[in-house]
Amino acid sequence: MDRNSDVVVIGAGLIGLAVADELARRGRKVSVLDERPPHEAASWAGAGMLAPHPERKGSAGFESLCLRSFQQYPRFVADLIERTGIDPQLRTDGVLLVATSGEEAERLSARAHELKASGVEARWLDEMQARAFEPALGAQHRGAAFVAAGGQVDNRDLLGALETACLRAGVQIDRESANACLEVEHGRVRAVKTARARFAAPVVVNATGAWAGLLKGVPPGAAIPVSPVKGQMLALRALAPPVRRLMWLNDCYLVPGRGGRVLVGATIEQAGFDTRVTAAGVHQLLALAITHLPQLADAELIETWAGLRPGSPDGLPFLGVSDIEGYVLSGGHYRNGILLAPITALLIADLLDGKRMFRAGEFAKAAADGWPG
Ligand code: GLY
Repeated sequence: MDRNSDVVVIGAGLIGLAVADELARRGRKVSVLDERPPHEAASWAGAGMLAPHPERKGSAGFESLCLRSFQQYPRFVADLIERTGIDPQLRTDGVLLVATSGEEAERLSARAHELKASGVEARWLDEMQARAFEPALGAQHRGAAFVAAGGQVDNRDLLGALETACLRAGVQIDRESANACLEVEHGRVRAVKTARARFAAPVVVNATGAWAGLLKGVPPGAAIPVSPVKGQMLALRALAPPVRRLMWLNDCYLVPGRGGRVLVGATIEQAGFDTRVTAAGVHQLLALAITHLPQLADAELIETWAGLRPGSPDGLPFLGVSDIEGYVLSGGHYRNGILLAPITALLIADLLDGKRMFRAGEFAKAAADGWPG
């Protein structure tokens, strides 16, 4: 049986759903296909950290893309709340980048000054000021940079809100789309075939996260080099809230949640598609959390999990058109998929509306030329 759409998005994570929602709101008939349950998506596994500056990947263009997406968040979330009633608890109260050595203190203090000079609200806090800011910080910290452009969102609720919003906007979501295979004829996309149906469309967006490089039917040479990067995470519950706001350290991060919950992340492992939570992973995260915030030693360990980030060779995403007409890539967001969901949706929708043209895999060059403009 054939189903016809204007656009098929493969992947129902935050990126895929945000793109589908934006396209549906611009009047397109959109189908979203996935074969995995939501809890297998990196969007579910992440901590909901929104930090445009700490996770710099050595490209000013990329950092500016991250900041612009962060700036989209209040609008993005307010709109979802209005349309779905689901509140993903957005906070935009900044991020604390904590130094644990003199060398890091020098680097982070220089970074705070550099950000300030570029117009981003940031300031360096010496040890006493940092402790006043976050009283639970351990004795080994050497000060911290506070960057106002940062925050967090409950990514699991955000995923639920986006799915509800998509359905209300008329997007068809098929979560039993096993064995998706791109159908290409004479260099252009015709459809996506799954085990159960054929979804005909002139445009297919690959938003399959860590699996983006494995999409069947993609002609040789057109597969994108995205590979899984495992991240183990855990959640603790403390009697008193141990962290006031998002805290970023060289070797881990801590994200406060409701009711004394704090998320600790994350390992970075090249382990293929393995999503086991291991003794070594949990040990590493617990040791770091307790070292940085000693009072967490008494917290209850309430959840552990692992997810797969969509890694790309240079840490930059693949966004844009490919050599196959109608085959659009929206992948390789690595550690920034949650942060980049709003701007990715706008960029891909603008691309399909003919307002912009950009090729996936040419991010560095495009960014140097001022992309996304
Ligand atoms: N964005 C957080 C992580 O990848 O661990």
